[in-house]
Amino acid sequence: MPTVFITGANRGIGLEFVRQYAADGWTVVATARDPDSAAELNAIESDVTVRALDLDGDFFQIDWNGLVGTKPIDVFINNAGVMGPTKLDTIEHAAAMVHALAVNTVAPVVLAKAMLPLVAATKGKMVALSSKMGSIADNGSGGFIAYRATKAGLNAAWRSLAIDVRDQGVVAATLHPGWVQTDMGGANAPVTVEDSVAGMRRVIEGLTPERAGGFYNYDGAAIPW
Ligand SMILES: NC(=O)c1ccc[n+]([C@@H]2O[C@H](COP(=O)([O-])OP(=O)(O)OC[C@H]3O[C@@H](n4cnc5c(N)ncnc54)[C@H](OP(=O)(O)O)[C@@H]3O)[C@@H](O)[C@H]2O)c1
Repeated sequence: MPTVFITGANRGIGLEFVRQYAADGWTVVATARDPDSAAELNAIESDVTVRALDLDGDFFQIDWNGLVGTKPIDVFINNAGVMGPTKLDTIEHAAAMVHALAVNTVAPVVLAKAMLPLVAATKGKMVALSSKMGSIADNGSGGFIAYRATKAGLNAAWRSLAIDVRDQGVVAATLHPGWVQTDMGGANAPVTVEDSVAGMRRVIEGLTPERAGGFYNYDGAAIPW
């Protein structure tokens, strides 16, 4: 069976990705900051390996190659992400934005680079969970400067990545999961985590080289940059 590698898999959208791929018999490599306390993830009875990954730490301290392993990967899902500061009025907010940039924008690219040979081995796919809030064209309401900037940066990075990896047969794209009922999305969000992930899995399944480098909603519709 194919292998999927998912970050931020102990709760929310990441956990649901693990549940659905595992239920379909995929081999799953899942990361969590603290695997020992990831009770719902550890309870999934399938071919699921959990590895520790905490992006709050020093990038130099992370063994990126050890983390990704040596087995070919069919689908890499960069899911872990943070909202960051909702305001940008103080130096403390600015410091928190730097942290959010590290987690949402820089770490995904570092991880993708470490994983590339393993994904190229299967001519697989690399997707990043972005957000419509990272769309500059869609921003009519302002606010959320940190989150929007980190996801816009992720979109720009992943677009370049998609171009850089296509000669190796790898298809990369960014996805918007919808406004989803998770800790981040809140209880008022209209989309269930099950529907969001089922939709994104269909989009990932349908990612052809022609759709590489795009930014897609969980229903497959293209989102303007
Ligand atoms: N929910 C929505 O409506 C929505 C909308 C658009 C985009 N998204 C994006 O979808 C992705 C998943 O969102 P979600 O709603 O599932 O969020 P969530 O419920 O807040 O879960 C976030 C996940 O990221 C992990 N994470 C956070 N900081 C981390 C760090 N420093 N190192 C490693 N892992 C870290 C969390 O681990 P811990 O449990 O250890 O904190 C958790 O597993 C995110 O990239 C988010 O920006 C969500």
